[in-house]
Amino acid sequence: MAELAQVLRHVPGIPDPNVLADAASRDDAAVYRIAPDRALVVTVDFFTPIVNDAAAWGAIAAANALSDVYAMGGRPFLALNLVGWPRDRLPMELLGEVMDGAARVMREAGCLTLGGHSIDDPEPKFGMVVVGEVHPDRLLTNAGARPGDLLVLTKPLGTGILATALKREVITDAEMAPAIALMTTLNASAARAALAHGVTAATDVTGFGLIGHLGNIVASSGVGARIDVTRVPTIPGALELTTQDVVPDGTRRNLASVAVEWSDDVSSAERLLCADAQTSGGLLLAVPPDRVRGLIDALLEARTPASRVIGEITAEPGVIRVSRGSGIL
Ligand code: CO
Ligand code: CO
Repeated sequence: MAELAQVLRHVPGIPDPNVLADAASRDDAAVYRIAPDRALVVTVDFFTPIVNDAAAWGAIAAANALSDVYAMGGRPFLALNLVGWPRDRLPMELLGEVMDGAARVMREAGCLTLGGHSIDDPEPKFGMVVVGEVHPDRLLTNAGARPGDLLVLTKPLGTGILATALKREVITDAEMAPAIALMTTLNASAARAALAHGVTAATDVTGFGLIGHLGNIVASSGVGARIDVTRVPTIPGALELTTQDVVPDGTRRNLASVAVEWSDDVSSAERLLCADAQTSGGLLLAVPPDRVRGLIDALLEARTPASRVIGEITAEPGVIRVSRGSGIL
């Protein structure tokens, strides 16, 4: 949900003590308390095709929409489909494949899809509204990170670069397959591990890239951060693609708009990777140092695609530093 944060400032702020997260807090989903021990987590995400296989696109869209509920520590239970479809140009059977892909992921998540809405649209679009629930005391947000906390990332970066390479036919569908597997992997077990091991702040890494979403944690928590770029997990081939100028526009925008103090020895390929706009990326978690071993062990046991400490939270408010082998650990 957070992707539209800048535009959503036009949504009037509503003074209601039951609003636990909304557009103003730059969190991943809106959270509303409906009882002392229950809050609803509500999010919506949709986008144009990023892969050639219809079912894979549906599965990615579903995993991506669910992710904002997991990033808040919530358990998704209801979903609705959002569809824009060029009915004169593309067969409805193909839309059926998109929905089947999404339904498979929703089943895996234990989340019911109860309906949806479609419009005729010259460009196909697909996504979902997802409703989840969370105990108000167990909410994971961007706020709460403290100096000294370590930063852990649960999926490698590079899906935006690979999707652009696929669109430009620089890579094949077979070469895209590892990125599709990552994008359809649920953040459910990563979120469970986060909740069990004292995580102080969490978000999923999507359109604003690692540095953009880290920027939200830094801003909301009133802290700074250091990233060791040599520890950032990367999809094989992504760095090389940036040197061939295969870079999504959103990634360039992120790099230009997020204030980062780059160390001179961080290459432009590495900077683009840190800014790469992800779809259905992993969770970025802040965890106290004395809890990190337990968190990493839980992530390894859950076989999350990555389970790597990539940096730490610092006491310099608003300052993000990215360097190489900075001896954080
Ligand atoms: Co979102
Ligand atoms: Co998000």
